[in-house]
Amino acid sequence: VKDGFDTFMDKEIHDQPKAVADTLLGRHDDDGDLVLDELRVDESVLRTVDKIIVVACGTAAYAGHVAKYAVEHWCRIPVEVELAHEFRYRDPVVNVRTLVVAISQSGETMDTIMAIRHAREQGAKVLAIVNTHGSTIARESDAVLYTHAGPEVAVASTKAFLAQITACYLVGLYLSQLRGYKYVDEVAGYLDELGKLPAKIQDILDREGEIKAVAEAMKDTSSVLFLGRHVGYPVALEGALKLKELAYIHAEGFAAGELKHGPIALIEPGQPVFVVVPTPRRPTLHNKVVSNIQEIRARGARTFVIAEEGDEAVTEYADVVFRVPQTPTLMMPLVTVVPLQIFACALAGAKGLDVDQPRNLAKSVTVE
Ligand code: M6R
Repeated sequence: VKDGFDTFMDKEIHDQPKAVADTLLGRHDDDGDLVLDELRVDESVLRTVDKIIVVACGTAAYAGHVAKYAVEHWCRIPVEVELAHEFRYRDPVVNVRTLVVAISQSGETMDTIMAIRHAREQGAKVLAIVNTHGSTIARESDAVLYTHAGPEVAVASTKAFLAQITACYLVGLYLSQLRGYKYVDEVAGYLDELGKLPAKIQDILDREGEIKAVAEAMKDTSSVLFLGRHVGYPVALEGALKLKELAYIHAEGFAAGELKHGPIALIEPGQPVFVVVPTPRRPTLHNKVVSNIQEIRARGARTFVIAEEGDEAVTEYADVVFRVPQTPTLMMPLVTVVPLQIFACALAGAKGLDVDQPRNLAKSVTVE
């Protein structure tokens, strides 16, 4: 079942090109238009939605965080991302024009189930992005878009995360298509770019040895920080979560711009910091993050930089650089998170920990 890999997590990391490809498969017609008939929700409802609230927990919530950047940019619909367990306790503003998007690998997370029940009671329509067919969240939602990641066994989510992000892009592009492409070009170009992602992810996997070697040398590390800006921010949060849950190392993710508002005080000589760098083709974003790397480097941080191929501006300030293939900004999480997953998995393995079944955790959290 592990296909020759030592752990399910390692296998599932390597399943990711297929998980993304399968989630894209069969979802457009010959003209390049998206066809999401399986959604089973009246198109007129989707045309009149004036707010989207994503509810999810853990890694699935970070997928929602990525979705916010893409959907707001492509559709100009405001998107909130809320941890499912916070949602119903804060008296959220929800009505018939709100689309609640629930993201869940298992479809059985009780916090998320309770959030969608609350949303439907308030008249909102619920669209579920779920990996497990026939699960409670799939059954209790108005519409379902399945991720086709295949069964995920390891407690730490990897391939489901990439499939969730892919499904979120499809939802955003579909809404844009339905609403007449007011803010973006037709979906064909985006689908074409998405179609290139499996090969790009595979390219990173083919070079995983570089990351594993770094991880193995860091098995005595007690604290790691992760920084990102824009869509790199949820990637930083996910990198930190993976390291906490698998390697039991104190790890924190920050928005890079927040550094000087407090976290930079944590930087002391030798502190490992991973930085997720945006493409240099978006210079305003890119320059800011490069400055952040300079700032922490000047204070003695050891910098591990995830940057695009050809981005030479980072080299001078990086102790280690992991390269990812050139990718459109909004789609970068599908490549930039992969080195962080490999790093956490390898570090936990080097510490002799149970990678697939970390202590205190369950694959599916079925109590509130
Ligand atoms: O099954 P779900 O996607 O609803 O699970 C949500 C979280 O419990 C899950 O992503 C959790 O954070 C993982 N252990 C992360 O690796």
